[in-house]
Amino acid sequence: MAVRPVRIYGDPVLRQKSAIVTEFDDSLRSLVADLYDTMEAYNGVGLAANQVGVAQRVFVVDVPQEDGSRERFAVVNPVLEKREGHEKGEEGCLSMPGITEDVVRALSLRLKAVDEFGKPIDRRVEGYLARAIQHEADHVDGVLFTDRLSIVRRQLLRRTLDALSRGEIPESYHPERGEGKKS
Ligand code: NI
Repeated sequence: MAVRPVRIYGDPVLRQKSAIVTEFDDSLRSLVADLYDTMEAYNGVGLAANQVGVAQRVFVVDVPQEDGSRERFAVVNPVLEKREGHEKGEEGCLSMPGITEDVVRALSLRLKAVDEFGKPIDRRVEGYLARAIQHEADHVDGVLFTDRLSIVRRQLLRRTLDALSRGEIPESYHPERGEGKKS
């Protein structure tokens, strides 16, 4: 298991539509283990495989619940159905350090997928877990959370995004301090 470098905005792999996983083997499990390690190292609540340069439809989440437990699991080949309601909430992305914005997402949805062993997942998710899953499912399609913002908000962010794509990480950003709620 290892922490892999997180790809930053401007890296073409983040815009790639990731491939469906067909082999549920040790290399998939080791990718998932590395995703967990990397997510923890960066204090994230979610991480998609293409954020570490692997364009496969895989992500992990680790979302704290109100009762103090955590929803921590891997998702392979996600399909999101039956979205209900919508809510605005703050999001950030480990691939876009220094940017946090309010994004409108469905309040709840049905997640159909498999885990890293090929075992089916079929469950209703809501609240912040539903938000994290929508953010990660976007990643595997090459969509970033800033794509979900209004044209005006995106224009205001353009300079920051251009700087990120040139490799300039904001000085104020310290992943080891954990800005929280990044995925
Ligand atoms: Ni993200």
